[in-house]
Amino acid sequence: MMEQTLIFFLLLLLLLLLHFHTIHTAELDTVSDSQFLTDADTLVSPTGVFELGVFRPGTSANRYLGVWYKKIPATVVWVANRDNPITGGSRVVLRVDHTGLSLLLSNNVTTFWSSNMTSSSSRKATAKVRDTGNLVLMDENQKIIWQSFDYLTDTLLPGMKLGRNFMTGIEWHLSAWKSNQDPAPGEFTWGADTLGYPENKLRKGPQVTFRGGPWSNQRFSGVSTFDSNLTFTYKAVVNASEMSFSYVLDDSSILTRTTLNSSGQLESWVWVENGKKWQLALSLPRDICDSYDICSTYASCSVNMIQQSCACLDTKRFVPRNQQSWERADWSGGCVRRTPLDCKNGSEGFVKYSNIRLPDTEHTWFNMSMNLKDCEAKCLKNCTCMAYANPDTSLQGRGCLLWFNDLFDMREYSVGNGGQDIFVRMASSELVDESNFKKKGGAKIEIILPVTILGVLIIGMFLTWSLYARRKRNHRKGEDNEEDIELPLFSFSTIATATASFSDKNILGEGGFGPVYKGVLEEGIEVAVKRLSRTSSQGVHEFKNEVICISKLQHRNLVKLLGCCIQGDERLLIYEYMANKSLDSFIFDENENKILDWTTRFNIIKGIARGLLYLHHDSRLRIIHRDLKVSNILLDQDMNPKISDFGIARSFGGNETGANTHRVVGTYGYMAPEYALDGVFSTKSDVFSFGVLVLEIVSGKKNRGFIHPEYDHNLIGHAWSVYSEGRTMELIDANLAKSCNPTEVLRSVQVGLLCVQQNAGDRPNMSSVIMMLGGESTLPQPKQPAFFMDKDFLVADFSSSTYLAGSVSDVTITEVDAR
Ligand SMILES: *[C@@H]1O[C@H](CO)[C@@H](O)[C@H](O)[C@H]1NC(C)=O
Ligand SMILES: *[C@@H]1O[C@H](CO)[C@@H](O)[C@H](O)[C@H]1NC(C)=O
Ligand SMILES: *[C@@H]1O[C@H](CO)[C@@H](O)[C@H](O)[C@H]1NC(C)=O
Ligand SMILES: *[C@@H]1O[C@H](CO)[C@@H](O)[C@H](O)[C@H]1NC(C)=O
Ligand SMILES: *[C@@H]1O[C@H](CO)[C@@H](O)[C@H](O)[C@H]1NC(C)=O
Ligand SMILES: *[C@@H]1O[C@H](CO)[C@@H](O)[C@H](O)[C@H]1NC(C)=O
Ligand SMILES: *[C@@H]1O[C@H](CO)[C@@H](O)[C@H](O)[C@H]1NC(C)=O
Ligand SMILES: *[C@@H]1O[C@H](CO)[C@@H](O)[C@H](O)[C@H]1NC(C)=O
Repeated sequence: MMEQTLIFFLLLLLLLLLHFHTIHTAELDTVSDSQFLTDADTLVSPTGVFELGVFRPGTSANRYLGVWYKKIPATVVWVANRDNPITGGSRVVLRVDHTGLSLLLSNNVTTFWSSNMTSSSSRKATAKVRDTGNLVLMDENQKIIWQSFDYLTDTLLPGMKLGRNFMTGIEWHLSAWKSNQDPAPGEFTWGADTLGYPENKLRKGPQVTFRGGPWSNQRFSGVSTFDSNLTFTYKAVVNASEMSFSYVLDDSSILTRTTLNSSGQLESWVWVENGKKWQLALSLPRDICDSYDICSTYASCSVNMIQQSCACLDTKRFVPRNQQSWERADWSGGCVRRTPLDCKNGSEGFVKYSNIRLPDTEHTWFNMSMNLKDCEAKCLKNCTCMAYANPDTSLQGRGCLLWFNDLFDMREYSVGNGGQDIFVRMASSELVDESNFKKKGGAKIEIILPVTILGVLIIGMFLTWSLYARRKRNHRKGEDNEEDIELPLFSFSTIATATASFSDKNILGEGGFGPVYKGVLEEGIEVAVKRLSRTSSQGVHEFKNEVICISKLQHRNLVKLLGCCIQGDERLLIYEYMANKSLDSFIFDENENKILDWTTRFNIIKGIARGLLYLHHDSRLRIIHRDLKVSNILLDQDMNPKISDFGIARSFGGNETGANTHRVVGTYGYMAPEYALDGVFSTKSDVFSFGVLVLEIVSGKKNRGFIHPEYDHNLIGHAWSVYSEGRTMELIDANLAKSCNPTEVLRSVQVGLLCVQQNAGDRPNMSSVIMMLGGESTLPQPKQPAFFMDKDFLVADFSSSTYLAGSVSDVTITEVDAR
């Protein structure tokens, strides 16, 4: 019995020893002509960073010649005999001779691998491993005649190239291992597509699954928020002899590598010396928007905090090819121009779209010395040219890329997080709004958001600032801790306990993006937990940054965000709990609405106005709520209103007041006409929703679904007709009759009607609203409101049945997720 146990442990020990390293007896730095390196020896780089030798991957019994980090166990960066392993226990030798480098069985002529030198090879060749990880074979003049960097496996090291050498025909691309035990080439490759302007593509077999975007030659330095210690220099070469893309770290003592694993995930890693581990810096593809061609033509994919979806490049000039399937989130048809191109001589023009991952460049033409003006002219001359762009902004405005097919595989980034400008050809009639458009572009550029660490740039390559940020943190803390988030991060188990495992009994309501639960933390603190729908696989960094951004908005009329929780694909937002739930449970309820007397209602109206004013003008960020409605107004125990659900609010900064959105997110009944119909939103579209709220609070009736028995009016229409006939007091909730102050009621209704005017420019801003509500001065006369009649609204622009079906209910309309 004892004996068996002992044997077992000895065997285990032996297995552990064999697991990665074989026992190496000698460490050399050079193998020269006709010298032999046996499989017990290794070749070490000058300062001992890399080592070449024979290894076994994982638990495999097979052996391979490879290069690994000498001081880091089990990190192989290059393999010679990938698909021809040394089986069995036979001894092997690495020989350097006039035929180059070869790996042979000792006492036998069997060759496992050879560097396949040609006649030019030298008799006095020597082999060395460099500190970059490059295994080089040099002639007597130290000229490189062969190097492992020309034959990439699954790892990209700084200094390695992706692309193609037209002189030697060598193609540089990564190819994944079959499995962790088998370095033979697997299904996935990542490399340059050089048919048009070069770009990197991830392929599964012949199928493209992800594209990195066209190459651009940029040095990402001088961004003051980051340590200059961890900067990269990217190098793109596009000339007659080669097309290549590579990067080097300015501080070469920092170890980084990018790997393509056998399930097709590209991952960038940084070695953290203190933690003695590889820290993941970036993993691609990240989300559904990275799926190749997900949105098809003239549409872009975008991800926000809650969801990811496709939208036509702009809703004015493009329409889904098939509206019905588009609404079902079947985006395969893509979008088409509203007005087809007719290519009348000189009449067409271009519209600029910003922050776009440029479309697939397979059918492109380029000239990197042409300026943008000539580029435009060249595109305009050829009817099949659909767009132009400057792919490389580092060339002082030079560089011209033209597309000769329908544009596809675009992605839209939030401002400052990557993407480039593209100029898309349009029929002359679509160019009328050009000035508006420019304004909109400006707004985009001005957006102030904390730098989203992940994904600052996917330009050509995929290494991003996240490397810097991580590194910086690790520097500071000396370990690979979780990020220094300024917001409490709750553990999933804490929240699960607090909500009785998300019990149905604890559901407070169903918000736009998932259910909201009541929870009680251990300390007895009550919270509301919003569990975002699981369909989003948004990056953790992006999510956290958006959460931090929201949590910075603090005002007594805004619901406070206490923290968040991220686990796997779970995303939870933890808010302060509001004892009295939402306003709609009072004003639309026959019994509860008695609780809200006029004074309380008027306070609620003023509170909402102050909260909205803060969002629009006073907060550091300028926020448009976009989905303001009674169910998003929560009440604390003293009936003070607090605006909730900034999930869809988009911040934008500076003095811009307008922006255009691809997706209409909001609730019918509260949406301003310009927003519902054209997707143009601004603070004035929130003002419209506020106006509807005021009318609902005063009348106790829902705008949507309210149909006047005689006139077929909705609530706005009804309010307008009683107001214009001087019978405003007929509008008020019957329960208010006793408590109300007629002057305040009239004022509120008039302000409400001013807010719902058809023309956004006629509507007051929130600071005037507050002044008008509180003051005694004469108010302007409102013009006839938008959406006067329910029917008009429905018939006018929404012919599809999807909209009609949801028209009377209070659902939030958002785009459907893909999964
Ligand atoms: C070399 O080894 C292989 C397999 O072990 C054997 O089949 C072959 O005959 C050997 N050749 C020589 C020349 O010894
Ligand atoms: C060397 O040439 C042989 C035969 O042409 C080929 O099978 C092998 O893949 C080549 N090896 C390398 C490293 O190119
Ligand atoms: C690099 O980082 C170290 C430590 O954080 C700092 O002392 C040094 O100044 C940095 N070097 C540069 C060039 O920023
Ligand atoms: C292409 O660029 C590379 C790297 O800059 C250079 O070595 C090579 O000579 C260039 N070839 C031509 C034809 O310009
Ligand atoms: C590849 O990486 C992804 C992401 O880290 C991981 O989920 C997957 O399991 C990895 N595949 C293998 C075979 O290790
Ligand atoms: C097209 O426009 C150019 C310049 O405006 C003019 O020279 C040319 O004659 C026009 N061609 C046709 C077919 O109208
Ligand atoms: C590229 O553009 C430059 C500047 O406009 C021009 O001189 C050159 O002839 C162009 N080359 C090609 C191949 O069109
Ligand atoms: C337009 O561009 C396409 C693609 O480069 C080319 O085949 C065609 O000849 C060009 N037409 C004209 C009129 O230049």
